[in-house]
Amino acid sequence: MAEIELKNLSVEFGAFKAVDDVSLTVKDGEFVVYLGPSGCGKTTTLRCIAGLVKATSGDVLFDGRRVNELSPSERNIAMVFQFVSLYPHLTIRENIAFPLKARGTPRAEIARKLEWVTGVFKLGDELNRYPAALPPGARQKVALARAVIRNPAVLLLDEPLSAIDEQFREEMRWELGHLQRQLGVTTIYVTHDQREAMSLADRIVLMNNSRIVQVGDPDSIFLQPVDIFAGQFIGSPSMNLIDLVPVDGGLRLADSGVTLTAQRHSLPDWALKSRRKLKLGIRPLNVHLVEDETGAGSDIAVDDVFSVGRERFFTFRIGDTIHQGVDKRGKRAAGEGRVHFDPDGLLFFDAETGRRVVAEERP
Ligand SMILES: Nc1ncnc2c1ncn2[C@@H]1O[C@H](COP(=O)(O)OP(=O)(O)OP(=O)(O)O)[C@@H](O)[C@H]1O
Ligand SMILES: [Mg+2]
Repeated sequence: MAEIELKNLSVEFGAFKAVDDVSLTVKDGEFVVYLGPSGCGKTTTLRCIAGLVKATSGDVLFDGRRVNELSPSERNIAMVFQFVSLYPHLTIRENIAFPLKARGTPRAEIARKLEWVTGVFKLGDELNRYPAALPPGARQKVALARAVIRNPAVLLLDEPLSAIDEQFREEMRWELGHLQRQLGVTTIYVTHDQREAMSLADRIVLMNNSRIVQVGDPDSIFLQPVDIFAGQFIGSPSMNLIDLVPVDGGLRLADSGVTLTAQRHSLPDWALKSRRKLKLGIRPLNVHLVEDETGAGSDIAVDDVFSVGRERFFTFRIGDTIHQGVDKRGKRAAGEGRVHFDPDGLLFFDAETGRRVVAEERP
């Protein structure tokens, strides 16, 4: 096991910075998920930790020791990619044992480790089969078993489940999380799927444009996004974003006749006094329909109510923008109801910088 530290890490490809001044410490045994849109630098960061890409500047440390100059094989890491390549002419047993055999590990020890790892991954029945005979999910398990059999200090996973069918992915995800905890191996997992990140991570590292945007456990990233990007990238359906216009006694939702006030919407005092141009962020989870006439935001018209599986959503329109809310009233609710913003769910962002503004930072 190892602690990984990235210190002001940058990776440049010609004039392009794929990783820009990234600093992070991953604790021994921790499960960290790198999350961000396509092209933001996740894979490059991972490859740099693995030693497959050279840092242009900055350092990679394992347990406090600088490893920049070490080759991948000297770093004691194991890596699993999106598209697994197993040796097609070797059985599952031979595939999994391959890394040990390649290093000349004694037979008895290989047998012991095989038993352990196939037990953990529940691959006991598949050992004499060939990769082509296994479904993709099982093949990915073989790849993971092969990766961990030699007790790597660090496990690096780059979208390892994205080539697997949706129906198996959920189960694999659960198993992977469970396994990582059982093994206690320091793990960095790369994905652009926020749901995957939310369900697996001890901590999420959110990246955008080659830089770290926010680091935190799933709850804190969800509840306290540092900026509009973080707010909208995490959570589904996405956070609603509405321009605010200061008016006498409140903040009006731009392009609407609706004004949020301290009295009716528990608008914080600092937001009312703020001289910044603000945007309101509110998650669909925090917008619902109520029956009463005094409900906050009650002048907003409901567009449509619809079900997705067992959940009910609704849309409402402000200006030309369609927003979403969650209808928690149950199927039997009569009438359209009125849009209500949960005061606890109001997030305020600086319209110019996109940064979230909180009470303590009042201008
Ligand atoms: N060897 C390379 N040479 C030049 N540019 C590269 C190289 N590798 C990556 N890049 C560029 O660096 C940027 C970051 O790539 P990277 O693969 O790290 O993104 P990613 O976050 O993993 O994206 P995805 O979610 O699509 O896998 C991209 O714009 C990519 O085109
Ligand atoms: Mg990638």
